[in-house]
Amino acid sequence: MTHRKIIFTGLLSAIAAAALIGQPAAPRAQGYAPVVSPVERGRLIADQECSSCHAIGLTGDSPFEGAPRWRDLHRRFDVADLAEAFAEGIMVGHEAMPSRAFPPDDVEGLIAYLKSLEPKPAQ
Ligand code: HEC
Repeated sequence: MTHRKIIFTGLLSAIAAAALIGQPAAPRAQGYAPVVSPVERGRLIADQECSSCHAIGLTGDSPFEGAPRWRDLHRRFDVADLAEAFAEGIMVGHEAMPSRAFPPDDVEGLIAYLKSLEPKPAQ
């Protein structure tokens, strides 16, 4: 006797996943979901949009030659000064780097994440 089972599972779990993610296709301009802390949000953005070129963590080198390691940026300037550049989407320097204007929550997140890479002052 043969049992043939049509397996919907793949399709169903895709639908379930879409339902779980749940946001009705929010326009990208609204930025990343507000459910995470600023640092987590910054990490998420960095991971998705910046890590193909920059070393975004505490170890490792930048994959793209000439892209500064983020953990070194604070040695050159106060990373909080990047807020305006992130918000306006002007990033000086390199044509390789896409320019992209971030909404306020994303700017806050990126700055918070960059700050989190700085060595903590000894207490
Ligand atoms: C295609 C590669 C690429 C991607 C993707 C990329 N960058 Fe860059 N980025 C560069 C390069 C190259 C430089 C160095 C530019 C220079 O100094 O001429 C740079 C420089 C920077 C700097 C230093 C600017 C300064 O004034 O020294 C910051 C901050 C930065 N990137 C942030 C980001 C952020 C945030 C993202 C993601 C949203 C990102 N980058 C994505 C290539 C990239």
